[in-house]
Amino acid sequence: MSHSSELSSFLVLLTFGLAVLGGIAPQVDARAYIVFGDSLVDNGNNNFLLTTARADSPPYGIDSPSGRPSGRFSNSRNLADLVGEKVGVAQVLPYLNPELDGERLLEGANFASAGVGILNDTGLQFVNIIRIARQLQLFEQYQQRVGALIGDDQAQRLVNEAIVLITLGGNDFVNNYFLIPFSARSRQYNLPDYIRYLITEYRKILMRLYDLGARRVIVTGTGPIGCVPAEIAQRGRNGECAVELQQAAGLFNPQLVEVLQELNGQVGSDVFISANAFEMSYTFITQPEAFGFVTAKVACCGQGPYNGIGLCTVFSNLCPNRDLYAFWDAFHPSDRANQFIVDQFMIGSSKVMNPMNLSTMLALDSRS
Ligand SMILES: *[C@@H]1O[C@H](CO)[C@@H](O)[C@H](O)[C@H]1NC(C)=O
Ligand SMILES: *[C@@H]1O[C@H](CO)[C@@H](O)[C@H](O)[C@H]1NC(C)=O
Repeated sequence: MSHSSELSSFLVLLTFGLAVLGGIAPQVDARAYIVFGDSLVDNGNNNFLLTTARADSPPYGIDSPSGRPSGRFSNSRNLADLVGEKVGVAQVLPYLNPELDGERLLEGANFASAGVGILNDTGLQFVNIIRIARQLQLFEQYQQRVGALIGDDQAQRLVNEAIVLITLGGNDFVNNYFLIPFSARSRQYNLPDYIRYLITEYRKILMRLYDLGARRVIVTGTGPIGCVPAEIAQRGRNGECAVELQQAAGLFNPQLVEVLQELNGQVGSDVFISANAFEMSYTFITQPEAFGFVTAKVACCGQGPYNGIGLCTVFSNLCPNRDLYAFWDAFHPSDRANQFIVDQFMIGSSKVMNPMNLSTMLALDSRS
């Protein structure tokens, strides 16, 4: 054995030894990260399900470190990844991934599933997705597993101190109320009443999260759903955003902020933090050039007008530089656009972050 290969075996052993030590060291200081919601934050749960709502084939993930699809609806990172990076928590695995076991559970888990909404009948066409009530059940199961690992008191503490992100609502419009003309929900409710119903149901979901121990919950409103390439292609006139969907988001978001304020008042603390994804994205949608985008109407990956028709697949048009496009596919922002959104989560004013931005949240939490 040559001298240099002995040295490298030693280094391998040393690194291995450190990794093992690192693995058994208690991670009391790191906060866990828990994610709920839809395709804006799903990081691979749907890969494990028999559903048509999936992003597990190329070119999804083309700009990620592996260059391969992971189930994220992005060319690289999604909102959940970027929020996690900003607030300094570990990259968590999808809850359905069998590798999420043992010590890794202490870092948190992602329960999100592309296609879901606030309502159970949202995303019915995707067949097998983890509806929000089920995501919350799995969260209970998760807590039992963490309890078995570190004891129930510590598990409770871990959940209380965790950073929770929940993203819901967009699908209740695009994949329910507005999915087809004369949808069941649109025959049942006019738009304002439907939104009141959504808010009532969302409130129950958030209260349930609180009852399950969540004490820091970032809640995103719905983005400019009328301005995504799919809706511009199908409903927009001359490349304009689809009016009725923009109206829906415009009614939904302020009522969500109100209900979060009311919940904070009820529990006597700033548990729920609203992030106005509509305002945050609207800036680069109306002034794409100011953000270095060549367009905010045409998706990078897709086909038909605005690349807004059908799915993003290996057969689709694909732009050469994803950083120049605000939209990756017909519905989802590019990695670059997600970065602009999440920057605002951190430093945004009270116009977009309520009652505080995430830098203020982190400063407060580090003191307590
Ligand atoms: C959705 O389904 C869950 C579980 O089956 C149920 O508990 C919940 O009440 C349902 N929500 C609505 C709005 O019907
Ligand atoms: C965050 O919010 C606070 C309070 O509204 C504000 O003063 C501050 O400028 C915002 N940005 C940063 C980076 O803290």
